[in-house]
Amino acid sequence: MAAILIDGRAVAAKWKGDLALQAAELSADGTEPHLAVVLVGDNAASQVYVRNKENACRKAGIRSTVIRLAEDCDQEQLENTVRSLNDDAGVHGILVQLPLPRHLDEAAVLRLIDPNKDVDGFHAMNSGRLMNGQKGFIPCTPLGVMKLLEAYDIPVSGKHAVVIGRSNIVGKPMAMLLLAADATVTVCHSKTENLKELVRQADIVVAAVGRAAFVTADMIKPGAVVIDVGINRVDGAIVGDVDPAAAEAAGYLTPVPGGVGQMTIAMLLHNTLEAVREYGR
Ligand code: GUN
Repeated sequence: MAAILIDGRAVAAKWKGDLALQAAELSADGTEPHLAVVLVGDNAASQVYVRNKENACRKAGIRSTVIRLAEDCDQEQLENTVRSLNDDAGVHGILVQLPLPRHLDEAAVLRLIDPNKDVDGFHAMNSGRLMNGQKGFIPCTPLGVMKLLEAYDIPVSGKHAVVIGRSNIVGKPMAMLLLAADATVTVCHSKTENLKELVRQADIVVAAVGRAAFVTADMIKPGAVVIDVGINRVDGAIVGDVDPAAAEAAGYLTPVPGGVGQMTIAMLLHNTLEAVREYGR
């Protein structure tokens, strides 16, 4: 039986509509939400992602400013840019688009972002808050996954969730969120032995490895919920980490494109409005 496809576009559209209403209310109350994006260099994928963020902000009535720095900009210039955004009371959210050119110290830059403007949720203060079950900014992609599960009334409590990938951006925060929702969580990665056996035990699989068709149909327990976070370019097409043939085994599957990716931007808008409500007025 073919899986039910989770329509991330439709869920994200509903979120964006609600967020636009919230943004309009905040503006009417005298605070126009404002997201600042720092883009260093000319990575083609990053240019596209940043343009999508700008467009989504405009449609939601959120002001966005993109600060473009040259590929060869130095650490001091980048850090001074972040400092001035931290000090600017008219900026509520700061996002430094990753990856940075290799000569720059990414960890040092992320550490510098005011945790109360860290709408990506990458600052150690926010990952610590997530780890400790405290309120804070949650990275947009894993937060979007949780909202998709909620939108489809997919139960998480007591279920075995297997997260494939251990990045700071997706895998680790994803595991923390699933754990906070009372799942039993296994985190797999490139060194995991018996990956197939482990994934086959999962009621919920989250694939965030960054390799096309890494998760195959034979790894999926019949009826499992399969969330594909991958965005891989193969011969000019965008494909996920899950082989589309997995749809024959899965109960639910997020398509790529049209699944999780749409939710990431919606959650960025959500976090930006949270920044206004919590710290911005
Ligand atoms: N590069 C790829 N995904 C992301 C993201 O969610 N945030 C930032 N800042 N950079 C990224």
